[in-house]
Parts: sequence; C-alpha cells; structure tokens
Amino acid sequence: MQFKNALTVTALLGASALAATSSSSIASSCSIGTTATATAQADLDKIAGCSTIVGNLTITGDLGSAALASVKEIDGSLTIFNATSLSSFSADSIKKITGDLNMQELTILTSASFGSLEEVDSINLVTLPAISTFSTDLQTANNIYVSDTALESVEGFATLKNVNTFNINNNRYLTSFQSSLQSVSDSLQFSSNGDNTTLAFDDLVWANNITLRDVNSISFGSLQTVNASLGFINNTLPALNLTQLAKVGQSLSIVSNDELSKVAFTNLTAIGGGFIIANNTQLKTIDGFSKVQTVGGAIEVTGNFTSLNLSSLKSVRGGANFDSSASNFSCDALKKLQSNGAIQGDSFVCKNGATSTSVKMSSTSSGSSKSSATSSASSSDDSSNAQASVSSSTSSSSKKSKGAAPELVPATSFMGVFAAVAVALL
Ligand SMILES: *[C@@H]1O[C@H](CO)[C@@H](O)[C@H](O)[C@H]1NC(C)=O
Ligand SMILES: *[C@@H]1O[C@H](CO)[C@@H](O)[C@H](O)[C@H]1NC(C)=O
Ligand SMILES: *[C@@H]1O[C@H](CO)[C@@H](O)[C@H](O)[C@H]1NC(C)=O
Ligand SMILES: *[C@@H]1O[C@H](CO)[C@@H](O)[C@H](O)[C@H]1NC(C)=O
Ligand SMILES: *[C@@H]1O[C@H](CO)[C@@H](O)[C@H](O)[C@H]1NC(C)=O
Ligand SMILES: *[C@@H]1O[C@H](CO)[C@@H](O)[C@H](O)[C@H]1NC(C)=O
Ligand SMILES: *[C@@H]1O[C@H](CO)[C@@H](O)[C@H](O)[C@H]1NC(C)=O
Ligand SMILES: *[C@@H]1O[C@H](CO)[C@@H](O)[C@H](O)[C@H]1NC(C)=O
Ligand SMILES: *[C@@H]1O[C@H](CO)[C@@H](O)[C@H](O)[C@H]1NC(C)=O
Ligand SMILES: *[C@@H]1O[C@H](CO)[C@@H](O)[C@H](O)[C@H]1NC(C)=O
Ligand SMILES: *[C@@H]1O[C@H](CO)[C@@H](O)[C@H](O)[C@H]1NC(C)=O
Ligand SMILES: *[C@@H]1O[C@H](CO)[C@@H](O)[C@H](O)[C@H]1NC(C)=O
Repeated sequence: MQFKNALTVTALLGASALAATSSSSIASSCSIGTTATATAQADLDKIAGCSTIVGNLTITGDLGSAALASVKEIDGSLTIFNATSLSSFSADSIKKITGDLNMQELTILTSASFGSLEEVDSINLVTLPAISTFSTDLQTANNIYVSDTALESVEGFATLKNVNTFNINNNRYLTSFQSSLQSVSDSLQFSSNGDNTTLAFDDLVWANNITLRDVNSISFGSLQTVNASLGFINNTLPALNLTQLAKVGQSLSIVSNDELSKVAFTNLTAIGGGFIIANNTQLKTIDGFSKVQTVGGAIEVTGNFTSLNLSSLKSVRGGANFDSSASNFSCDALKKLQSNGAIQGDSFVCKNGATSTSVKMSSTSSGSSKSSATSSASSSDDSSNAQASVSSSTSSSSKKSKGAAPELVPATSFMGVFAAVAVALL
C-alpha cells in the first residue's frame, strides 16, 4: 500500500517543494517524487506555488478542511484517502490530472470542488457517505467509478462524450441521470442506486457492454450497437424501448424485471451470444423481437408469457428452452422452427402451463442417441435434470393441450449451453 510511509514522504514533499520554491518564487513545475503524502494544510501550502506538480500526491490524516491553491496541473494522480475529519476540499485551479483522481473513505466530507478540472484519466469516488457536491468542469475522462456515495446527482459527468468505463453503483440518493455519452468502449454499469433511478442515454450510439440493475426507467434513443453483452436485471422498468438497436455482439439478457410489460427491440436482427428472457412476471406479450434472425448461442425464454413472436428467427446455434407458465401459450410456431432446422443446438424444450412434465425424444436426433430409456424431467427444473434425462422416449408426450407437448432432445451439451447463458448473466 502506498500510504505506509506517510511521515518520511511528507518530509520529502516539504524538501522538494521548498527546493522548488526557493529557486524561483513562481515555480512552474515541481517534482514531488513518485508518491508524496500531505497530512496537513501546511504541506499543501508548500506546493501551492507550483503551477505543475509532477508526481503522485496523497492527502490523508487529520485535516479539517483543505485546499490546494494555484496548482493547474498534476502529472500524476491525486488521492485523498482516509481523512476522516475532512469536511471540504477544494482545488479550483486544477485543469488537468494526467492520472487518477481518487477520493475514498472520507466519512464527513460534504463538498469537493474542482471547478476548473477539464481532463483526468480516471475518477474514483468511493465511500463518501456525506458528500453532497462534487463539482468539475469535466470534458474528458476515460473511466468513471462512483460507489457508495451520498451524491444526489452525477450531472458533473453529463458532458462526457466518450469513456471506457462508466460504473455508478450503490449511491442511494441518486435518482436521475441524463448523459451525453456517445460511446462506451468497455462497460456501462448502473446498479443499486436510488429506488426510482431514471436514466437517459439518448446520445449513446454504441457501447461494448451494458448492464443495468435496479433502474426505474431508461431511454436509449440512439443506441445501435452493443458490441459485447447487454443485460437488464432486476429493474423496475415498465418498458424497454430500444428501437434503434440493430446488433448485440454477445449475450442479451432480460431477467427478473418485475414490472416489465413491454419490450420493443424492433430493429434488432442479430444476437451473437445467448438470448435469455426470464422471470419477468408482468411480461405477457413478447412481440418486440420479431426481426431477430440469428442467435449465436442458446435461447431461453421463461416466465408467464402468453405470446412470443420470433417470426424472423432463422438460426439458433445453441439449444432452445421455452417455458411459459401460461396455459394458453402455444408452442406451435416454435416447434415449426425446430423442425425447419433453425435450432441447431441439440436441445429443444417448449412447454406451457398446461403441459405435463414428461419429456419426449425428438425424432431428428434419435438415431444418434445411444440410450433408449424413458424418463421425465420436472417442469420447474429442466436444466438441472437435463443431464439425468439423457435418454430417449417414445411415450410420455401425453396430455390435453395439443401444441404443447414438451420436447427434449437430450444431449450432453445441454448443460453447457445453458451454463453459458447463466454465466453471461453474472
Ligand atoms: C504515479 O504512480 C504510478 C503508479 O501508481 C506510477 O506508474 C507513476 O510513474 C507515478 N507518477 C510519477 C510522476 O511518478
Ligand atoms: C485511517 O486513519 C486512521 C487515523 O486517522 C488510522 O488509524 C488508520 O490506520 C487509517 N487507515 C488506513 C487504512 O490507512
Ligand atoms: C417510485 O416511484 C413510484 C411512482 O413511479 C412511486 O409510487 C414510489 O413511491 C417511488 N418510490 C420511491 C422510493 O420513491
Ligand atoms: C465486457 O466485454 C468484454 C468482451 O468484449 C468481456 O471480456 C468483459 O468481461 C465484459 N465486461 C463486463 C463488465 O461485462
Ligand atoms: C462497436 O461497434 C461500433 C459500431 O459498429 C464500432 O464503431 C466500434 O468500433 C465497436 N467498438 C468496439 C470496442 O469493438
Ligand atoms: C434482485 O434483487 C434482490 C434484492 O433486491 C436480490 O435478492 C436478488 O438476488 C436479485 N436478483 C438477481 C437476479 O440479481
Ligand atoms: C419507443 O420510443 C420511440 C421514440 O424513441 C417512440 O416513438 C415509440 O413510441 C416508443 N415505443 C414504445 C413501445 O414505447
Ligand atoms: C435499423 O438498423 C439498420 C442497420 O441494421 C439501420 O440502417 C436502420 O436505420 C435502422 N432502422 C431503424 C428504424 O432504426
Ligand atoms: C427464475 O426464478 C426461478 C425461481 O425464483 C429461479 O430458480 C431461476 O434461477 C430464475 N431464472 C433466472 C434466469 O434468473
Ligand atoms: C410477428 O411480428 C411481425 C412484425 O411485427 C408481424 O408482421 C407478424 O404478424 C407477427 N406474427 C404473429 C404470429 O403475431
Ligand atoms: C400468470 O399470469 C396470470 C394472469 O395473467 C396469473 O393469474 C398467474 O398467477 C400468473 N402465474 C405466475 C406463475 O406468475
Ligand atoms: C391467454 O390468456 C390471457 C388471460 O389469461 C389472455 O389475456 C390472452 O389474450 C390469452 N392469449 C392467447 C394467445 O390466447
């Protein structure tokens, strides 16, 4: 840990800063070494005459309020850490920090002001339970991480256009954010913020990964491409309207969104990985994926849905599991897909609330299957029973509802296929 030798480094800081200021009254650049630690305002005053500080500066210890005056640039990182009596901090001349701005474990800090800060590599704000304002003039940053703070707003980051990562989590007073981001080259994540967080990313055209949890509403008015994975998990969203989205490079997951009743991914044609829609209790009509043609992994749709329109689907590389608890959901269209060869994976299951729990071997692969015993799988736990039911059957497709007999083409790859989808959710 770089905070260990606070005393020694403080001494260093004093010495080099003094050296710099003694040689000229307005030092332009002061080197503070790889890591220097300030534990009092007096330490900061020593470097206040420097226009540029070269080195990594850590501020920690028993400071009440602190300011770093005049300094315009830090060639290095600024870390303010474990200063538990620090109530406010300002560094209003700093325009640029080439490394990171880290603020962590500042239990009573209410305000942090970087009024001129335009450019920084990463900003990490972690465990700031009292903070109410964090101000900057931010134009560019690569990574933003805000976790466990009392911020009600992260609008200070609203002007950013392109970032690598943007992760906002566990900020319980945060209820809305409108972003100007146009691209996210690694990941965009929002989770566990205020109960009713509403988000708008209407300028975002592409992102590598997106995961949203615990969000109340979201708008992605321009989003065309998610290069890797897209996940909506455990949100209170009533609707998901991503009408510009054409492609998801890896998996698409829509899981456990209890209020979701409408999905419109009306321009989406390709999903490169697994496609899972599960446990969205209000989602009855799934008509928002009718242009999807290809799924590179497995497809799983479970819940209480009564209709599912996948009318353009031509190719699913993995297996398929459709399981609705609604008794009037019809498997006919999906069975047709399978018999047309669209489902290339070894497994195919389609069930509704009226179907029995038994399992039937499909004729397409019975020739390659070795065993021939009849078995059944529990309707509530298909995937975990799948391996045990590697067997074929001729009987058992009983029951009243015509189009709804469950079919399982057992295969050893079954678990793998669904495990891959499950992993994509993590
Ligand atoms: C600041 O610390 C980082 C490692 O944390 C190091 O790579 C870098 O060289 C340091 N900066 C300066 C100016 O010493
Ligand atoms: C935080 O500061 C307190 C004293 O102010 C010290 O006792 C503690 O060890 C510090 N914690 C870390 C992780 O540096
Ligand atoms: C969230 O918003 C709904 C209305 O959309 C409201 O009924 C509910 O009380 C809000 N919850 C909180 C915790 O603010
Ligand atoms: C983002 O996508 C990359 C692949 O491009 C993947 O390796 C990485 O694990 C993903 N990260 C998250 C947080 O989903
Ligand atoms: C993601 O896709 C967009 C649109 O095709 C492309 O411009 C961008 O370079 C891709 N990003 C990555 C990280 O692959
Ligand atoms: C959803 O959130 C609840 C608590 O808010 C948690 O217990 C549950 O594990 C979450 N489910 C998923 C799929 O993340
Ligand atoms: C989706 O959003 C577009 C505008 O972005 C709007 O015209 C359309 O009505 C919305 N559709 C749904 C189902 O909400
Ligand atoms: C749908 O996606 C295609 C790219 O696949 C794009 O050219 C087209 O403009 C999009 N249409 C709509 C209505 O968003
Ligand atoms: C859906 O909910 C059931 C029961 O709560 C759970 O066993 C299953 O793992 C959930 N599925 C997903 C994909 O989260
Ligand atoms: C599926 O959706 C397409 C496009 O919206 C529509 O033309 C078609 O009639 C729908 N099919 C069914 C069976 O509802
Ligand atoms: C499915 O939805 C119907 C109402 O549409 C409801 O009566 C039933 O309890 C739901 N079943 C489950 C398992 O959620
Ligand atoms: C299925 O039953 C529900 C009521 O439980 C009804 O709203 C829905 O229209 C029915 N769907 C079909 C396709 O028959």
